[in-house]
Amino acid sequence: MTQPRTPLSLAAIALTLSAGMAMAHGDVAPQPVNTDGLPELAGGWEFENPFRDPSDPVWERALRIGDSAYNQNCARCHGLEVVSGGLAPDLRFLMAEEMDDEWYMERVRRGSGDRMPAYEDLMNQQAMWAIRTYIETRPDPDGIAEFMPRLRDIRDGLRAKQEAIAAGTATEADYAEEIAALHVELMEIAVAVPTMSGAPKADSIARRAAVILERGGDRSLREADETLTIGLSVAR
Ligand code: HEC
Repeated sequence: MTQPRTPLSLAAIALTLSAGMAMAHGDVAPQPVNTDGLPELAGGWEFENPFRDPSDPVWERALRIGDSAYNQNCARCHGLEVVSGGLAPDLRFLMAEEMDDEWYMERVRRGSGDRMPAYEDLMNQQAMWAIRTYIETRPDPDGIAEFMPRLRDIRDGLRAKQEAIAAGTATEADYAEEIAALHVELMEIAVAVPTMSGAPKADSIARRAAVILERGGDRSLREADETLTIGLSVAR
């Protein structure tokens, strides 16, 4: 038997939000960032984000590390999902190119004004570029809006399939072809979603759900459902 879907997804959202809120209170010690799996940057400080290329397998890894490092270290001021609530500048407006990379690195390493902390002694260069990769790949909310109704339909379809499988009226194999087609469609949506930074590929919920379906496995329908549900709930 599988669990009912809605309460589970809400629990996941509540968890995400409470983690962010806990950090909004008082001083929280900066979290060490584990950068295992990212290449060494032996040539000193880079001028441009070395993890920018989405066709390089390192991109996905940088994104995952950057997501967690951003949310533990930066989100309390710069906002969950990099949507600023006004405490600090909205970092999604930095362009994904060398000039703004230098601007970014300078501020992150040395801090700025009396409220932006310096991170040079707190995290390594790979961690800073991983966070940069996460920031620059946030989807443009206006750009993804038009796909939201279709993403909701896809989510509902994934849920119906899980329910049929749980009830024993269908098997995963019955849906193989349909899921392969959904994967293709999600990939098409993913490449159509723009970033605000001009970075070549957005890390949208469509992209994340496509990656999960491509990976496959027992939990993939449920995980893709949850990924879409959380994204649909936080969409403005
Ligand atoms: C305690 C609050 C706080 C935290 C935590 C924080 N920042 Fe900031 N940040 C600010 C403020 C405030 C500014 C604006 C500073 C100024 O105007 O000089 C800023 C500015 C910046 C800028 C320059 C933005 C621009 O548009 O000019 C960058 C880049 C930046 N922060 C990145 C980060 C990153 C990356 C992290 C996490 C590793 C982080 N910040 C953590 C408060 C914070």
